[in-house]
Amino acid sequence: MKSWVELSGPDYSVGMRLRTPLLFVSGLALTVATVLPVSGVAQSAPATSHDRAPLAAYSLVTSISQAASGLIARVVLPAGVGCPSLDVTIAKNGGSKNVSKKMSERKAGTTTLDAFSTLLVCEAAMPANAVSASVAGRSIPAAMPTEVDRIALFGDSGCRLKGSDVQDCNVPSQWPLARIATSIIREQADVTIFLGDFFYREEACPVANTALCGGSPAPLPGVSFTDSAWGWVADVLTPMGALLSSTPIVVTRGNHEQCSRGGNGFFLMFDPAFGTSTQCAPTSTGAAPMVYSPTWATDLAIKGGRTLRLVNVDSANGSDSTIDDTIAASQRPLFVQAQALAKRADEAWLLTHRPIMGVQSPEVLPVPPGDLSTWNSVTQAYSSYGLLGPFDLTLSSHVHLVQAVQVPGAPSELVLGNGGTMLDPTTSYAIPEYGPLTSATGQPLAPNVGTLPTADYLKTWVRFGYAVATPKRSGWAFELKDPAGSAFAMCRSKDRLIAC
Ligand SMILES: [Fe+2]
Ligand SMILES: [Fe+2]
Repeated sequence: MKSWVELSGPDYSVGMRLRTPLLFVSGLALTVATVLPVSGVAQSAPATSHDRAPLAAYSLVTSISQAASGLIARVVLPAGVGCPSLDVTIAKNGGSKNVSKKMSERKAGTTTLDAFSTLLVCEAAMPANAVSASVAGRSIPAAMPTEVDRIALFGDSGCRLKGSDVQDCNVPSQWPLARIATSIIREQADVTIFLGDFFYREEACPVANTALCGGSPAPLPGVSFTDSAWGWVADVLTPMGALLSSTPIVVTRGNHEQCSRGGNGFFLMFDPAFGTSTQCAPTSTGAAPMVYSPTWATDLAIKGGRTLRLVNVDSANGSDSTIDDTIAASQRPLFVQAQALAKRADEAWLLTHRPIMGVQSPEVLPVPPGDLSTWNSVTQAYSSYGLLGPFDLTLSSHVHLVQAVQVPGAPSELVLGNGGTMLDPTTSYAIPEYGPLTSATGQPLAPNVGTLPTADYLKTWVRFGYAVATPKRSGWAFELKDPAGSAFAMCRSKDRLIAC
C-alpha cells in the first residue's frame, strides 16, 4: 500500500504507511503499521505537523547523578521526523528565560533488527530551575515537585496474550488500563510510581480469539525477545500516553521487561538513565542477555517538611518459588546498595517489582501442590535477607492483585499488581503456615541464611485499580481505588506496620 494515511484517536495521532489492518486498543480503533520498516518513508513524503505529533512525551524521574534536576525528558515519535527540541522556561534572577535544548536520539540495538525501526525516541536532561517544559508541542513536567502531597501508584498494566491466557484487549472492563490512566490523571498526583510489567503482548492473538484481541501486534519471528514498537504502542503508549505527560514518573523494571521479553522496548523508552538503550539487544549469537540495572534512588520533598527516599531495585530477573543461586549472586549486591542508600535517609521505601513477601494463590504455582510455599518471590527474599532494616515500606507488584502484608520485624509490604493485566485467581490467600524462605512443609530453603516468621497480617483484594498515597503526620495513608477512581479500601502505614 503506497499512500499515507492519517490516524487519529484521543491520545494518538500519527502518519504511517499502512501494512496491517485495524488494531483495537481499549475501544479505540487504530490503524497500525507493522514493525517492518517501509523503505523510503522519510523521503517519499514531507513530514506534516501531524507526523511530528508525539506518541508519548514524558519526564522520567532519575537519580541526580544522571540529571541535576532529577528528570530526563523523553519523547517517542514516528520514525523519520528528526528529534525535536526540548523547549523550557527557566527561572533566572527573579525573571525567566526561554531555552531550546537539543534532544539526542536514543537508539535500539542493531541486533533488534526492525523491531523498533518505526519509532524515534529522543531525550535530554531536564535543566535545573525549569518552570515549564514542552516537547513537540506537548507539555511535560518541568521539575520535581517541591511539596509532595499525593503519589499515584500502579503496576502490571498490559493486555495479557500468552498461552491460554487471552485477555479481552478490546473491552475496557476487561482490560481497564486506559480507564485507570484517566482516573490517575484526575487525581492530580504530584508524582506517579509505576511498579513494573508494562508489556504483555507476548504472542499473536490466537485465531480462535479474534473477537478478544484481533489485530494485536504480534512479536517478530526469529528474534530472542517478544516486544516491538507496535506492541508498546498498543500496550503502553496509547492507553497511558496522557498519563505519562501529566506527572513526573518513577519507573521500575518488571520481569516482563527481561531482555527475552519486553526489555528492548523498556530500555529504549523507559529505563531512567542515559546510555542504556541497547542493554537488552541480542548478543552476536542472537541470545537475549541477562541484565541487572544498578540500584538508584530519588528523594521526594514531602508536604510538612520531611523527605522520602525512594530506592529502586531491579528485580526483573528471579524465580518466584525457588532460589536461583546464579540470579541471587547478581541480585544481592543490588540490595546491599539499596540498604546503604536507605540507611542515609530518615524515611525510605523500597521499590522493586517482585514482592519480597507477597503471597500468591496456590492455583498459580508452577507445580501443584508439591513442597512449594505460596510466598513470592523466593529469590528476592533470599537476596535481600538481612538488608531491609532501614526500609519503612516495600512497594511491589508482579502478583496480579492488591495485597498488604506484615511479616514481624520486616518492613510492611504493599503489592499493587492490579493495573490492568489479567488478574490472579480470586481465592486462597491464607497466611502460609511457615514464613518466607521456608517450604510448604516447614523446611528451610536456605539453611545458610535463615528463615523469616510467617505474616501476622495479610489482606488481599483481587480487583483492578491503582493506589493514591498521602502523607500523614506520621506515616502514610494508601487509598486503594477501582478503575473509575472510587476508593474500595484504605490502608495506613506507620512505624513499619501496615493495616487496611
Ligand atoms: Fe505481572
Ligand atoms: Fe511480574
